[in-house]
Amino acid sequence: MKTLVFLLVVAFAVGASAQQCQCKTMKWATCDGNPCECFHPVGTGERQALNCTNLIPKCILMKVEMYRSRAGMSVRGNIGGKPVETAFVDNDGIYDPDCESNGLFKAKQCNGTEECWCVNSAGVRRTDKADKDLKCEELVETHWVRIELKHKETTGAVDPAQLKTAIGNAIQERYQLDKAFVTDIEYDKDARLIVVDVKKAVGDRKADLSRMAYYMEKDVKVLPLFMDTKKFEPNVAGQKLEFDNILVYYVDEKAPTFTMKRLTGGVIAVIVVVALAVIAGLVVLFLARRRERAKYEKTQVRELDEIQQALS
Ligand SMILES: *[C@@H]1O[C@H](CO)[C@@H](O)[C@H](O)[C@H]1NC(C)=O
Ligand SMILES: *[C@@H]1O[C@H](CO)[C@@H](O)[C@H](O)[C@H]1NC(C)=O
Repeated sequence: MKTLVFLLVVAFAVGASAQQCQCKTMKWATCDGNPCECFHPVGTGERQALNCTNLIPKCILMKVEMYRSRAGMSVRGNIGGKPVETAFVDNDGIYDPDCESNGLFKAKQCNGTEECWCVNSAGVRRTDKADKDLKCEELVETHWVRIELKHKETTGAVDPAQLKTAIGNAIQERYQLDKAFVTDIEYDKDARLIVVDVKKAVGDRKADLSRMAYYMEKDVKVLPLFMDTKKFEPNVAGQKLEFDNILVYYVDEKAPTFTMKRLTGGVIAVIVVVALAVIAGLVVLFLARRRERAKYEKTQVRELDEIQQALS
């Protein structure tokens, strides 16, 4: 009986300490020791140490995800629009990134291949793909993200006046980013679309918008990266909002340098309309000219007749 009690106490103590040594911001991490240290493998015999006090840098998260998908482990289960012409979305998705030791992205990324491109501080491609001699002079900072969130049906109406506070508070609590960075909110109740602008000053290198956006994308699209299984659910005057969809636009301190290789449907439509208008214009001009000439010829004939009459 005594031993049983002893064992129970030990088991409880181990359980309690194990519960304390865990990674709140990264559910796949392995943690142990005293002081508690957490890591995740990123290659054979290669461990990535994780500081679970903060959100994990996006570059390191992507490395971990690539490792997990290679190893066959689980990874992932309009109003608004571009805020400025230079904004862009992430069309590439995940790749195996090169990170600095502090977790920042290296400016040039090659995904372990001969094909390389330059990224911004959120790790999103901002140039065309090129060969491995490509030069990326600096890591260009993303200073503005526009997040378009589509919320699920709600029972009551959503009060737009309360949205900014609610979203700001939820972001600050969950993603450790000061709500002062949430500068603007727009709401379209019919589309159930909330457009959230998160902006920092140009030159600010302290706040990291990419982590917040990435954790939020995972929360909405797949499953949370956090240990706890709570959701991102802003509370708008007592009503919790859940989301179906998220789209993130990135605005960098310097405009991206994509070339227009592929014409999008919209651009093609515009070109077709312009071409048709030009053709229509030419036809009208041609017909007008012909009519004018006909009139001129007729008057000439009449004048000649008059002259002949006068002469005769
Ligand atoms: C983790 O980050 C916190 C806050 O930035 C810092 O105070 C702490 O020293 C870091 N821990 C380690 C082990 O680097
Ligand atoms: C990176 O490489 C992986 C295969 O290793 C591929 O599935 C993925 O699409 C690549 N990503 C990019 C952005 O090239």
